[in-house]
Amino acid sequence: MNKDMDLGSMCSPLPRSASVISTGLYLPTRVLSNHELEKMVDTTDEWIRSRTGIRERRIASDKETPSFMGARAAEMALREAQLLPTDIDLLLVATTTPDTVFPSTACHIQRELGARHIPAFDIQAACSGFLYAMFLAGQCIATGAYETILVVGTEKLSTILDWEDRNTCVLFGDGAGAVIMRHCKGKRGILSFELGADGSLGDLLTVPGGGARLPLRPDNIHQKLHYIRMDGRKVFRQAIEAMDRCAKLCLKKAGIRPSDLSCIFPHQANIRIIEALAQRLELPLDAFHVHVERYGNTSAACIPIALHEASHSGRIRSGDLLLLVAFGAGLTWAGIVLEW
Ligand code: UT7
Repeated sequence: MNKDMDLGSMCSPLPRSASVISTGLYLPTRVLSNHELEKMVDTTDEWIRSRTGIRERRIASDKETPSFMGARAAEMALREAQLLPTDIDLLLVATTTPDTVFPSTACHIQRELGARHIPAFDIQAACSGFLYAMFLAGQCIATGAYETILVVGTEKLSTILDWEDRNTCVLFGDGAGAVIMRHCKGKRGILSFELGADGSLGDLLTVPGGGARLPLRPDNIHQKLHYIRMDGRKVFRQAIEAMDRCAKLCLKKAGIRPSDLSCIFPHQANIRIIEALAQRLELPLDAFHVHVERYGNTSAACIPIALHEASHSGRIRSGDLLLLVAFGAGLTWAGIVLEW
């Protein structure tokens, strides 16, 4: 990302507040440990743990498609909010591993849930996708366009990994999370946001094949173009810079200091990235909700999974100030300051 990137203009809190009223998650039961990976590629548990913080990740079965996992997470969030699928007015799904090119995963989830004929569509901003979707949900609630919005992040990254490439296959995992957003009287909800993208650096992290540019043909498949390719070192540096800038700008827009935050929910790609962010924000690591050791990088699913875990363990409570901050392929980045 360019050092002098446009960080956008100051924003005021939403004219009509948008809050998260409930959360849900779905994690496949199959656990793939680092020790099992040692038998699959030339790696060690020690290397993976010390370079990434990851100990294990979840791997979805054939039945556990992104829409299946997303629908289960959504059902949990609906139960918690004591709502029915027919109460949802808008369904947004962040995913980089859709069930099908089309229909969208959102349409698959709409059918699975038995929701009404509401608008349903996918948002593709890779690991930043869930925050892009939350931002959009916040705007829709603020303008009064929609009242009750289901936002899902779901990923089956195991299907786009080259299981012979140790540089990437040890890093990612599968899972889904969901939140329901609404206007709540007396709650401030989203206080500030910051989104951005730099397409000029897209080649650093990409799945080059499988789209219209390099369709799934035997020659492209032979070259493994349908799998994730990443320049890990460069992405690592970009991730720290972008998340740091994005976080600070979000805090500035919300008029709060890092020390005012009850908890930070960062994208979970590598514990060393989270540690660097903690250092730059001058906060202890335990101010961050971290689950990368258990699930690896679940891309658009990782922040809603973390929100569910934190709210259910009692780590976050009504009125707490939270910072959510993500970074991913695109390159893309996003941050939201939220009163829980
Ligand atoms: O979600 C989107 C954002 N994604 C990210 O933010 C990921 C960002 N990148 C990273 O997290 C790190 O760059 C990695 C975890 C991908 C790699 O860690 P690194 O400390 O940057 O390692 P490296 O790429 O510099 O590789 C160091 C060495 C290399 O060997 P040589 O060339 O020094 O001999 C790699 O071949 O480690 C080797 N290596 C491995 N060794 C054992 C790479 N992967 C493995 C492995 N096991 N799994």
